[in-house]
Amino acid sequence: MSGAIDNQQRGTWMLSGKRILLIVCGGIAAYKSLDLVRRLRERGAHVRPAMTQSAQHFVTPLSLATLSGEKVHTELFSLTDETEIGHIELSRSADLIVVAPATANIAAKLAHGIADDLASTLLLATDTKILMAPAMNLRMWLHPATQSNFKLLQERGIAVCGPADGAMACGEFGPGRMSEPLEIVASIERLLGDETKLPLPLANVSMTAQAEPLAGKHVIVTSGPTHEAIDPVRYIANRSSGKQGYAIAAQALAAGARVTLISGPVNLPAPAGVELVRVESALQMHAAAHAALPADIFVAAAAVADWRAAAASKGKIKKGSSGPPKLDLEENPDILASVATLKKGRPFLVIGFAAETDDVKANGAAKLNRKKCDMIVANDVRPESGVMGGDSNSVHLITKSGVETWPELPKGEVARRLVARLASMMRGAGQ
Ligand code: CTP
Repeated sequence: MSGAIDNQQRGTWMLSGKRILLIVCGGIAAYKSLDLVRRLRERGAHVRPAMTQSAQHFVTPLSLATLSGEKVHTELFSLTDETEIGHIELSRSADLIVVAPATANIAAKLAHGIADDLASTLLLATDTKILMAPAMNLRMWLHPATQSNFKLLQERGIAVCGPADGAMACGEFGPGRMSEPLEIVASIERLLGDETKLPLPLANVSMTAQAEPLAGKHVIVTSGPTHEAIDPVRYIANRSSGKQGYAIAAQALAAGARVTLISGPVNLPAPAGVELVRVESALQMHAAAHAALPADIFVAAAAVADWRAAAASKGKIKKGSSGPPKLDLEENPDILASVATLKKGRPFLVIGFAAETDDVKANGAAKLNRKKCDMIVANDVRPESGVMGGDSNSVHLITKSGVETWPELPKGEVARRLVARLASMMRGAGQ
């Protein structure tokens, strides 16, 4: 059964009959909330919409009412509403409150207990779980006030999905775009799944039904290739797809960990709930890995480029009469070794991968010693193995105590077994 079909079936099952109060705030991303309503209803959820005054400048109550099939609530002091359905009932009768887009303004109000309109009152007058999907200009998002408001809200148990990086309506580029509707749906499924403890029928999510073996732990995973610029249009890269690292991040999350996924450029959706840090180059990945510490477990699944251009050209290198240009290379820092050899704040478990074409086990064992990590997951990346970019992997787990060879398995299953092993290593060491 394909993952897409699994998710579709799981989603349909998990959201049918769920009551979602959707609060739409004012921002250009409000148009995506219309699609969010459609996606939620497709999955069987009931969506009751509420809008702020400023949201109504971006989408109309009529559009939301038509798509949701429900009355749209906009006013705090509406007598009809207070007799038929008060704001208290509106927020408390929901299984989940979703704020999308969530502006800097609504986050500031909720963080500081301000209730001066319908949306902020609904949020304050409830103990129902809340998911916020922030969307705003990147400078507003990066402002210390906004950052500290969202941090405070998360500490109080409010879930946050996004924002994503990308080109913004204001012409700037960076973090601040609202997550895509399907990513928000995935977060909703995860939150409602956890909350209601529904038995999840699929093998690849069975861990969430057990006690969460990595609850309270922070896991950092590096994943994907790195791109090393030669000039503004060319770069050095490799064939890594990021599938193995993303699968490990998903399984660590399912095991209850807080997960930071530091990803090079790949075409994969981040598992809902991980903290995704997108990078391009090895230097950026190195900086992001150290910035994400402290952690309990560090898994280096990325295929980091060993070298970068010593001096990337600012302009596009043109074909000249003197033949091909000479490319001087400089070695990139070894991220795995730099984390494994930290004198202070070394994660309890530091796990590396070894991509080998020859002498897989011997080369893997040499890397274990050289990089001072606790385990090397060695795999054969000869083109005929199909591992690079493929969906399965056959690995050797190399530790100081020896080598354990696993049969060829789907990458998701390698990830599930690996995370279970890491959890039992932590438990065995009393961590
Ligand atoms: N790694 C890293 N930083 C680098 C290079 C590698 O963190 N600059 C990590 C990878 O994420 C992987 C492990 O080190 O976990 C081994 O990577 P691999 O490419 O197999 O080995 P290299 O150290 O690059 O050695 P070689 O290319 O000589 O095999």
